[in-house]
Amino acid sequence: MQILENISLKPYNTFGIDVKARLFVSIDSISELKECLSIQEYPHKFILGGGSNILLTKDIEAMVIHMNLRGITVISETESHVVIKAGAGENWHEFVMWCLNNDYGGIENLSLIPGNTGTAPIQNIGAYGVELKDVFIECTVIDRISLETKTFTNSQCKFGYRDSIFKGSHRNKYIITDVTFNLTKKNHELHCSYGAISSKLSEMGVNNPTIQDISKAVIAIRSSKLPNPSEIGNSGSFFKNPVVSLDHFDKLKVQFPEIPNYPASSTSTKIPAGWLIEKAGFKGKRFNAHGVHEKQALVLVNYGSAKGEDILKLAKLIQATVHRIFDVSLETEVNIL
Ligand code: EPU
Repeated sequence: MQILENISLKPYNTFGIDVKARLFVSIDSISELKECLSIQEYPHKFILGGGSNILLTKDIEAMVIHMNLRGITVISETESHVVIKAGAGENWHEFVMWCLNNDYGGIENLSLIPGNTGTAPIQNIGAYGVELKDVFIECTVIDRISLETKTFTNSQCKFGYRDSIFKGSHRNKYIITDVTFNLTKKNHELHCSYGAISSKLSEMGVNNPTIQDISKAVIAIRSSKLPNPSEIGNSGSFFKNPVVSLDHFDKLKVQFPEIPNYPASSTSTKIPAGWLIEKAGFKGKRFNAHGVHEKQALVLVNYGSAKGEDILKLAKLIQATVHRIFDVSLETEVNIL
């Protein structure tokens, strides 16, 4: 284990923001993680996973611990199901591909989501009708202070839309070290009702899709709408889709009859933030090295040399404009540092 000084975090965040970590250490075992957490000389620690859900606006003074815990293990299996444990540092998409190569079903709709397996539960990643919580059994965590190991089951994680206990009351208290999933080995439950998936499958000429076909469709849809972080820096959806009361929605519908929505509860509905941002005139807008993606207004992008503060300023302008036009508050999905 080597503690490095003044390391650029550009390769470690998908926005590609060039800020520095005063101290940086990459750990690949639990004992190294505990050793790092015990260093009293640097009391502030910052845990870095895949760096796919953060906007870095300044250098990090805390000691950055880069989670590199690897390993995929089959814990148990029956004729129909398999229980798999993955280390927190496993790349999420590579893990999905590993499961598909073994014909294990359940996470094919979550193909191509950037980030690591260990951070996936924090915001309960979701796409095309599936959320992590649908296949999650439990995760192992280490208490940052006592170094005790604990297990959180699905219900203890209190998963919600892009939400879990690790974003709320237990924020920054624990470090997730591995995640256990329940996947299917046969009679896979397919989720292709999400409009874009069924039309992509027909375009591909597929009538009876396999889980591998669904993954291919999802990859094709995501690649056509979302910028590849290795080409254009971004963090996926920058904002959450806002939930508004039905009363509020009815008023908006009078003014904007074409406004889309998805049901959320008996008294509220969800509006795609991408639609609000596009309607507010920001889609495809470029300001120097940063802007709003031309194909999906929910994604803010770094064309190369943007600073985190520039992107944050743009995010605030979008929030203020959307609020002024629609009286709707946009909450960021990305963590701002
Ligand atoms: N829309 C626009 N303009 C835009 C973008 C979207 O009008 O520029 C409207 C369209 O009406 C479209 C609707 O928004 O039909 C929904 O768009 P899309 O299917 O792309 O989904 P989304 O609501 O924008 C959410 C997730 C994505 C996830 C997709 C597919 C959030 C914040 N985002 O986006 O997640 O991939 O659904 O399930 O919930 C992510 O979290 O990083 C992410 C990419």
